[in-house]
Amino acid sequence: MSDDFTLLVFISGRGSNFKALFERREHYTISGVVSDKADAPGLDYAREHGVPVAVFPRDEFNSRREQQQAILAFSLIRNPDLIALAGFMQILHPEFLDAIGIPVINIHPSLLPEFPGLNSHQRVLEAGHNRHGCTVHFVDRGVDSGPVVAQAAIEVLPGDTETSLAERTLKVEHQLYPWVINAIARNIITFHNSHVFFTREASEEAYQYNFIPGGSLQ
Ligand code: GRF
Repeated sequence: MSDDFTLLVFISGRGSNFKALFERREHYTISGVVSDKADAPGLDYAREHGVPVAVFPRDEFNSRREQQQAILAFSLIRNPDLIALAGFMQILHPEFLDAIGIPVINIHPSLLPEFPGLNSHQRVLEAGHNRHGCTVHFVDRGVDSGPVVAQAAIEVLPGDTETSLAERTLKVEHQLYPWVINAIARNIITFHNSHVFFTREASEEAYQYNFIPGGSLQ
């Protein structure tokens, strides 16, 4: 396991993606978990596994902006190589994104650009689509709108409910997210001027795992 590439993970709740990132870390170290909720269940897993935890509850700050300024100050001191949002239920203020100076990445439960925002599983069912999945993307100033790194698709089956679809999507999230972050740490997926690049190796691995690369071949 490499100690060179460090990751801060931001959560607000259950933390199953954080757990997958922790279990499947090969080329990165998780140097801390940040939560905006003191009772986020994912924090228990972090504490049990010796991952440093930092909690910034909204009610301890005058505004969301001040809350994010505190998270920013903490993040700058920890000096990670990458921030991974994993069910972090806040839109990062442009001030945060401008100041942080490193890429921020997110996982979203839909095949972006379809169904950004909340309730994506319900909206996929309502739209009658037969394909769904998840997307890892770089975070920009919009909502789930940054450059796509990679996606994993699943089939929508007859009789699927929001719950069954969420469960199957989550399974592929837990495979896709660690693979992407390991690949970034290995420098086989890179990000320059808002463009994502895959080396041939990254591209071949993506096809091998049935992931859809979002970037161009380097
Ligand atoms: C996941 O579905 C993720 O795609 C979305 O929020 C959910 C977080 O789940 N951004 P968990 O907290 O990682 O279990």
